[in-house]
Amino acid sequence: MTERRGMERREDATVEEVVFPLGFRWGVATSSHQCEGGTTNNWSRWEEMGHTAGGQRSGLACDWWAHAERDFDLAQELGLNALRLSLEWSRIEPRPGAWDNAALARYRQMLQGLRARGLEPLVTLHHFTHPLWFEDRGAFLAPDAVERFARYAVRVVEALGDLCDFWCTINEPNVYATFAYQLGGFPPGRTGDFRRAMRAQAGMARAHAAAYYAIHGAQPNARVGWAHHYNTFDPANEHSWLDHLAAGVRDAAFNDVFPRAVRTGRALVPLRPLVGDLSAVRGTCDYVGINTYYRDLVAFDPRRPRELFGRSCVVPTAPRGDSGAASSVGAIYPHGIARAAQRAAALGRPLYITEHGVADHADRLRPWLLATAARTMHEALQHGIDLRGYYHWTLVDNYEWADGWSLRFGLIALDERTQARHPRPSAGFYREIARANALTSEMVARYAAGALAQTFPLE
Ligand code: BGC
Repeated sequence: MTERRGMERREDATVEEVVFPLGFRWGVATSSHQCEGGTTNNWSRWEEMGHTAGGQRSGLACDWWAHAERDFDLAQELGLNALRLSLEWSRIEPRPGAWDNAALARYRQMLQGLRARGLEPLVTLHHFTHPLWFEDRGAFLAPDAVERFARYAVRVVEALGDLCDFWCTINEPNVYATFAYQLGGFPPGRTGDFRRAMRAQAGMARAHAAAYYAIHGAQPNARVGWAHHYNTFDPANEHSWLDHLAAGVRDAAFNDVFPRAVRTGRALVPLRPLVGDLSAVRGTCDYVGINTYYRDLVAFDPRRPRELFGRSCVVPTAPRGDSGAASSVGAIYPHGIARAAQRAAALGRPLYITEHGVADHADRLRPWLLATAARTMHEALQHGIDLRGYYHWTLVDNYEWADGWSLRFGLIALDERTQARHPRPSAGFYREIARANALTSEMVARYAAGALAQTFPLE
């Protein structure tokens, strides 16, 4: 199918056909620790300490440090025009102030490889991992974290700026801070420490802002943003004001802190004593990256002060991905894309869906998720939201943090022992969507009719 201009929407007997604006980015999202293999950072140490499901280690991961280009070929064959990856700070600055030029040269090679394949790189500077020396100083709680992170950002832009102008400073500060200090699933593994979780988010917001200005100083035309994880929290009982309150509190603590800091340079009044001065964060983004996967229903529960007086539950009929060996997550919720985009639009910048996907080794839900995500994004575009691209999580199954290898998010299945790759049917579906820059009813009939027949309502 040839590329089409503008946006159209055609009804037919079965499913609408949706066409995306010219230049819409169809990509995949990945991260260094999950794909590269052989890293030495806060997470590799956490794995060595036995904190992951069944003691599973990332090991060679997808072997990207040696062979990322093999998967770049696969992304190119899918007809994609974009790929999001992250840099491993621990490789680039193994000791404070000591830069590893060989590591930067390998990243240059990778970015050249992407460009040669027509894949525009979106480069993340921090995706949950950092050098051990940074971890041991207290990570983003350390007094010099802001300065250290900004210095790293400048070094990266000096070395790679001719190959990339699209930067994501930090991936999901809210997830990192919540898991590291409240839920304990990420290093340093503290639990129930709401104050530290808030201070870490604030520290990350200030580090992001410093990197924003540092990158622009080195590369005036750069596009700099961050990737925000939006989890949808709705009241378990629509008619209960206490459930509304509990869902609202979760939403404020998890979804709102970072975007509010970027929008207003402030936190909500009750959080101000915890987070300190955020005025420098105001206005520091050229685009907003949205990562969204799940919806939780929240019921008020006075016995759970550590969980902000809320208990999460999921409607039994809601679509669920595979269960992880370590984690339990909410309902899969592609419609969250539209809701998150609506909120993020308040920042007045272009939006990208920088992650969306499902753990689904048998590919039972993924085709439905892709079709629903495409329709939902199109709806958002029709409502005037400036949405510029979609990066599916992920290309090839990769190391899923505390869940080890028990969760499979790839369009392409990976046997991590042999490094053999096998595309799932969804890879073919996504290829057709990306190549056509559209979703057609005929594609849906071929790839997603079975899954769609179970039709999960959008709202
Ligand atoms: C993270 C990824 C992770 C994905 C699936 C996102 O929150 O950025 O690193 O693999 O979720 O769990």
